This record gives sequence, C-alpha cells and structure tokens, in this order.
Amino acid sequence: MKIVHSVREINSLSKKWKKKGYKVSLVPTMGCLHEGHLSLMRKAKSVTDKTIVSLFVNSKQFGPNEDLDSYPRQFQADCSLAEGEGVDALFCPEPEEIYPENFQTSINVTLLSQGMCGKDRPVHFGGVATVVTKLFNITIPDVAVFGKKDFQQLVLVRQLTKDLNYNIEIIGAPIFREKDGLAMSSRNRYLDDAGRRTALCLSQAIHAAKELVKGRQDVAANTVIEKTKEIVDNAGGKLDYAVVVNEFNLIPDKFVNKHSVLALAVKIGDSIRLIDNSKLMMAS
Ligand code: PAF
Repeated sequence: MKIVHSVREINSLSKKWKKKGYKVSLVPTMGCLHEGHLSLMRKAKSVTDKTIVSLFVNSKQFGPNEDLDSYPRQFQADCSLAEGEGVDALFCPEPEEIYPENFQTSINVTLLSQGMCGKDRPVHFGGVATVVTKLFNITIPDVAVFGKKDFQQLVLVRQLTKDLNYNIEIIGAPIFREKDGLAMSSRNRYLDDAGRRTALCLSQAIHAAKELVKGRQDVAANTVIEKTKEIVDNAGGKLDYAVVVNEFNLIPDKFVNKHSVLALAVKIGDSIRLIDNSKLMMAS
C-alpha cells in the first residue's frame, strides 16, 4: 500500500491508474478506523480495481466547541488496518496541503445542511461538502463509498455530486453494528460503561419503531417519534432530534411509507452525541 501525503502525488497516481483502464474508488475517512470503515473499503474493493482511502481530520467540519483537538487519532494502527484490507493507496495529507494559506472557498449544499444534525452543527455540512469536493477533484474516483450511518451526509453528497456534475457513482454502505446493536462510530470509544449501556437506546428505538410500523404504510410519523422519545428518555439519553424523513430529500413524512427513514441523534452525558437511522419498512 502506498502512503501518499501530497495532493499532486495522489492525483497523478489516480490519473496513471485511469490511463491504464483501471476503475478507481475513494473511501473518505477521518481515520480512527473501525470495522465500519473496513466494510466500506471491502465494498470499494469489490467494485473497482484500485482503492484509495483518504485519512484527513477535516477541521472545517468541526464547530468552535466541538472535539477537533480531542478527535481520536491512531495513524499507525490505521495504516495497518487499511493495508490489511488490501487498499492500494492511503492519502493522508497535512492540513495545509488541503487548506493552504489564504484558502477561501466553501461549498454549501444549502437546504440539506439545515435540519437534523445541521441545526446544532451550523458549520458541519459546509465543511463536509468542501472537503468532499476537494477529495473528488484530487483523487478523481469513478466510485466513492460512504457509510449509511451518516445518513444526512450521504444524501448531501449525492446532491453535491449531481449538482456539480461529477461523474462519480456514490455507494451508500450498510451500517455496521456491534453484536448488541450499537452502530459503530469512532466516538463510541468516548463512552464509559454506563454511557455504553445508555447508547443502546438508539438501536432499541429503531427496533421498536420498526415493530410499531410492522410494514404498514399508514402509521403516523408522530407516533414513531413519540415512541423514540420514550425509549431514549427511559434509557437516560437526551434526545437531540428524532425525525421521519424521505430517504432522498430529507423532507419530513407525515405518514410512514416505503421511503421513510427514522433518524435520531442522542446526547449521552454532556458531550457525547451519537446518531443512528434506519428505513422503517425494510431492513437497512
Ligand atoms: O464521514 C466522515 O468521516 C467525514 O465526514 C468525511 C466524509 C470523511 C469528510 O471529512
């Protein structure tokens, strides 16, 4: 596996591969890789000839009071994990390589950035859209793989890809869960034992919502949201939001239908915020 720090080098590597007729995939990450990330890499490898994983903790997607400085970093372990998956190149630029002095441009996917996680994190999705755009331009992939766990991000990336005419296939890979249902996240490692138990309320709420819906189209979204609140409250979590929205445009549904997704964010303790989501009418 090649470890590449410079924009110019990863760009020429990708161009060289494409000239040879290889299909190239990109898996963007912020490092601190876990099984969830590895499943994205496996997906990418299964559909293309060469896979690039980017590892970049993107300062622009963290708000002033968020965890940029303490965001977990484990470079050596990440290299071994990516190498173990047969990744062809790990692109791990220094911050100034991506955002040189006097960098001024930002990409905003306006409407999709506003609700849900965007409410509490006003700069987050602008930062994501900007870095994803740059990563697309730098690595010129044919395919990019994103996790479905970051549901709002995935919808936004699809929109950005369409709006900016990228000829890139965006693949949403299924959420990878611990045995007890907790969706894998780099932030899970912040949880203490009690927090870890409370965190189960996210997947439990999703399970209960699916049970409530039982494949019917006529269930009111509010009933699902009330049930979610009850489960999160009882577990001692603090519900940040729970919404039932359309899987393609994030517009709230009044009644559950086959495109409805339940998405929620829960605060565990003062500083840990976890998200989860699922389609309500089929396993995803
Ligand atoms: O999902 C993430 O880890 C990040 O938001 C991404 C897509 C790598 C952009 O920094």
